[in-house]
Amino acid sequence: MSVLITNGRIITATDDFIGDIYIEGEKIVSIGKHLHVSADKTIDATGQLVMPGGIDPHVHLDMPFMGTFSSDSYETGTRAALFGGTTTVIDFILQKQGHSLQEAFDEWNGRANGTAVGDYSFHMAVTDFNDRTRPEIKTMVEDHGITSFKTFMAYKGALMIDDRQMTALMQEVRRHGGLVTVHATNGDMIDYLVARHRSEGKLSPRYHYLSQPEVTEAEASGRFADIAHYTGCPGYIVHLTCEGALNAVRNATTRNQHVWVETCIQYLLLDASHYGEDFEGAKWVMSPPLREKKDQVTLWAGINQGLVNVVATDHCPFRWEQKLMGKDDFSRIPNGHPAIEHRMELLYSEGVRKGRISLQKYVELTSTNPAKIFGLFPRKGTLAPDSDADIILLDPNRQHTLSAATHHMNVDYSAYEGWQLTGKVQTVLLRGQVAVDQGECKIEKGYGRFIRRSRHTGLA
Ligand code: URP
Ligand code: ZN
Ligand code: ZN
Repeated sequence: MSVLITNGRIITATDDFIGDIYIEGEKIVSIGKHLHVSADKTIDATGQLVMPGGIDPHVHLDMPFMGTFSSDSYETGTRAALFGGTTTVIDFILQKQGHSLQEAFDEWNGRANGTAVGDYSFHMAVTDFNDRTRPEIKTMVEDHGITSFKTFMAYKGALMIDDRQMTALMQEVRRHGGLVTVHATNGDMIDYLVARHRSEGKLSPRYHYLSQPEVTEAEASGRFADIAHYTGCPGYIVHLTCEGALNAVRNATTRNQHVWVETCIQYLLLDASHYGEDFEGAKWVMSPPLREKKDQVTLWAGINQGLVNVVATDHCPFRWEQKLMGKDDFSRIPNGHPAIEHRMELLYSEGVRKGRISLQKYVELTSTNPAKIFGLFPRKGTLAPDSDADIILLDPNRQHTLSAATHHMNVDYSAYEGWQLTGKVQTVLLRGQVAVDQGECKIEKGYGRFIRRSRHTGLA
């Protein structure tokens, strides 16, 4: 099957021109102006932005967490992602403490294999690093193509590791050319603040926010950067939210250290005013919590300073009945919010259309940088000969409204209900197949493929 996309405005992290793209099978064959070639199918992209499919490197699908499972399966989550222009996601395997990495790999693989609609890969979250787990790092990198290892400095008693384990893990991951990623907040401080608020009868969602002040994130981000610097291991901070944490990274750059930074769309666009006195704020109970307006300014600036490299979602959806598990105690509200479908359109509308970022920066943040950092480039993350034909056509002027009534995620509320956006994803190709067109999904469950990743290549 061959496809010719004609007359679109082709945008990559470095290009911007009107041209054509010719695809054979799963791959792009050529790109240029007025390609004189015939194809089985032609898509007229006049007036559309033609860009690489989005890569969301931070999602939690069908994940056991806080006494329940995140509500999107690999099928519903990757399909919703495709509707919004994200063609590949990287999900998190969670090792169970006392068990091996391989057991966790088998469990996650069992849930995802044959059910995903869009392409996916895994990070491995190491929650128990010891002499038995140590040799499994090499196996993950070399046998499974899992080259990034997630750590939690918080969720004490469940997922958190201490600095001893962090140091040892980083030394091992470095030996095998991998990357350590981190949820960087101070788990002991948060544990204490949660306990204190509960003991004082302060139980509404607002106290989730007040139990994770900025200092908890700033401190842990600096500590993570220091351990990464000492061990020489490449580091990546997930869902960075605030000025203090970004300043810790800025400090690390003065010794010529790169710590890659991801923020998430919600931290750029939403703030802590969502945590009122009633239970409604549970929709935005996530960790770290939403921050202040001054932090949004810092994050947008950090993007343009090259300190923030990726915009992801941390998509971890729970239906309202699941959020109600914490109606009498904020510490029992499952943490996370739904966004996998909206990242690309929100960032386009609020970022590009409002003049905060360029189109090239948009592609960098949503696709090219995650591909480079996580070993998917140049197979994914760009439009070039031999790359997978993962392509979105976005109508830059079409207006639409976000709502739980129309979204495709398996959640009965929207964190962005009523938001009016300019710019809509019209057509999505995944490995040369039209996956979404004019609001309809054209591919089936099982089309999505597990993508083995190479080692981290930096952003050069
Ligand atoms: O609230 C969040 N972020 N839930 C998902 C788990 C995590 O910390 O990323
Ligand atoms: Zn996290
Ligand atoms: Zn997460």
